[in-house]
Amino acid sequence: MKDLENIQGSRVYGRRLTKPLTKTSEARLREYFPKYSISLEGGQVDYTKLFGYNPREVWLEIGFGKGEHLISQAKANPDVGFIGCEPFINGVSGLVDHMVRDNVTNIRFFMDDARLLMDATKKQSVSRAFILFPDPWRKKRHYKRRIVSAGNLTILAEILKDGAQLRIGTDHHDYCRWILARLMEDINFNWNDSHPDEWHKRSADWPQTRYEKKALAVGRKSTYLTFQRKPR
Ligand SMILES: C[S@@+](CC[C@H](N)C(=O)[O-])C[C@H]1O[C@@H](n2cnc3c(N)ncnc32)[C@H](O)[C@@H]1O
Repeated sequence: MKDLENIQGSRVYGRRLTKPLTKTSEARLREYFPKYSISLEGGQVDYTKLFGYNPREVWLEIGFGKGEHLISQAKANPDVGFIGCEPFINGVSGLVDHMVRDNVTNIRFFMDDARLLMDATKKQSVSRAFILFPDPWRKKRHYKRRIVSAGNLTILAEILKDGAQLRIGTDHHDYCRWILARLMEDINFNWNDSHPDEWHKRSADWPQTRYEKKALAVGRKSTYLTFQRKPR
């Protein structure tokens, strides 16, 4: 798998392949990679050209893990084009297995650092973004690795359309406070929730992720934050 592990010169932390793929999954990933993966070789990525049709909207998920949320959203919103970013090869393989099994065709994936893709994304082209259970990087000296940072929010704000939703979920209290602080001080986003139910309860159109399920199993409750990209 070395060829796939080294494809794009990533800046991500942690291992990209945690256990070998089965022969079937590896063959499937190799077969569908050219069809469904996003390449940065052509420079700027125009999402409307990725799907072979013009999707009603484009939604982006950063760090989709094994893709349960992405698959559910793609099935529930067949007229939306989904972009998923995930550098973890086992995760991408899980997504592809699921796409093939359930014949889901409105997802394209970028198997690398979401920041590389965001840098190459047309401004104001994304209508919704999800960052679900991002790695909290608990140690202070690792805070700079957190994906929710002032710099990354600036890039995200550029590619989001006016009024676009940004959903962030976390089960980590300290990171939750950090996320709220970063978003409150960012002039491009609003947080309009006023009742605790809005951030303590996952809405019906927010499918549970694998990571959230694991957290719940050991008694950790999650917070569900929804922000809006302010009009320019
Ligand atoms: C804690 S897991 C959560 C996975 C999934 N969202 C869930 O809730 O089950 C965080 C995920 O973010 C991915 N990730 C970390 N840094 C990333 C980056 N720079 N770009 C895209 N994904 C990233 C990791 O590989 C990992 O799969």
